[in-house]
Amino acid sequence: MRSYIALLGLILTLSGQFNMLLAGKKHSCEKLLADLGDAQSKFIYCATTKSVPVNLCEGCVDLYRNLTNDYGNLIANANCSKRYLNSDRINIVATTQGILTSLWQKANCENCFRDNFWIVYSDNSTKLQNCLESASSDLVCFKCKNDYVSLNDFYLSMEKKVGGSVCFDLQDNMNRTRLNWSKTLKCCQREVKLTNFLIAVGVVVLLPIFTFYITAVVVTKRREANHGLLNEQEPELDAPSTSTLITAAVLSTSTEDPVAISARTEKIANVLIGAGTHLLDESSDEEPPRGKKVAHSPASDYSSDDEPLEKPKRA
Ligand SMILES: *[C@@H]1O[C@H](CO)[C@@H](O)[C@H](O)[C@H]1NC(C)=O
Ligand SMILES: *[C@@H]1O[C@H](CO)[C@@H](O)[C@H](O)[C@H]1NC(C)=O
Ligand SMILES: *[C@@H]1O[C@H](CO)[C@@H](O)[C@H](O)[C@H]1NC(C)=O
Ligand SMILES: *[C@@H]1O[C@H](CO)[C@@H](O)[C@H](O)[C@H]1NC(C)=O
Ligand SMILES: *[C@@H]1O[C@H](CO)[C@@H](O)[C@H](O)[C@H]1NC(C)=O
Repeated sequence: MRSYIALLGLILTLSGQFNMLLAGKKHSCEKLLADLGDAQSKFIYCATTKSVPVNLCEGCVDLYRNLTNDYGNLIANANCSKRYLNSDRINIVATTQGILTSLWQKANCENCFRDNFWIVYSDNSTKLQNCLESASSDLVCFKCKNDYVSLNDFYLSMEKKVGGSVCFDLQDNMNRTRLNWSKTLKCCQREVKLTNFLIAVGVVVLLPIFTFYITAVVVTKRREANHGLLNEQEPELDAPSTSTLITAAVLSTSTEDPVAISARTEKIANVLIGAGTHLLDESSDEEPPRGKKVAHSPASDYSSDDEPLEKPKRA
């Protein structure tokens, strides 16, 4: 029933237009020109009002189709086209039409309607928008990442297919979506934060190991410097020196044989100790007898030695 009414309406409309065309040729050309002017102004109004965010291709496609139809009707009529096109140097009708057509082509608008690009993009984009609006702000990056990646992947595949000239509506929308994702929602920063976190964890794990080795090196070097002292106090503990072996293993740059080093240091230590004890013995043993000898013995010894000698002589 509905389709019957629609068909009837179409027949009436077509017959009406046919009657108008028959009615008068002058009228017809003016009517065609007026229709074209009307379509142009409507399209310009649409393009200007839907410029930010760009919604030219999808938002004005019906008006653009009407515009090209009206222009086609005008040039299809040989009498009208002769009258309005190439009639003077400015050629206003062709110029305004050319400006609007080039705007449409510059925006690659026809690529929106190729291979269902706009529909698939729009489905993916709506899914992402719904996710962004429903997710809580601290989980939004995590929850919506799959939707974002599939939209971005689809965009990249589309870009490949059309050789980079993606319809401008979708270019603009993808641009905004990416900016929103990285700048407003800071989802890329959170990824950077995650890597920073992993680096920090790595440092925290490795730091104690480095600290242990550095401490081991420092401690063993100090022990070596104090080798003599330690030898004096605890000779058995310090023996061929585990500390020297650790140092050699950790640094693994030592060219000298650790046993030789420890042997040498032990020798030095022994010499020092020997010298020290000798000095101590000399000072403690020699001085008191010297004093005695100087103070008492010459007189007493002499007298005791002389007296017995003198006594037998006298006796
Ligand atoms: C396009 O033109 C047709 C007939 O000329 C009209 O019915 C339709 O409303 C126009 N479309 C728009 C979006 O104005
Ligand atoms: C153009 O005008 C001439 C006469 O002025 C007429 O004979 C002819 O049929 C017209 N052509 C069209 C396509 O209207
Ligand atoms: C998103 O795009 C992919 C193609 O990359 C498509 O297979 C999928 O159906 C789209 N998702 C939605 C929700 O439309
Ligand atoms: C994307 O947006 C930025 C900032 O608004 C702008 O400078 C750049 O030209 C835009 N790129 C495209 C392809 O629209
Ligand atoms: C940017 O993200 C927010 C998420 O809170 C969302 O509400 C908004 O619609 C997004 N804007 C665009 C242009 O994607």
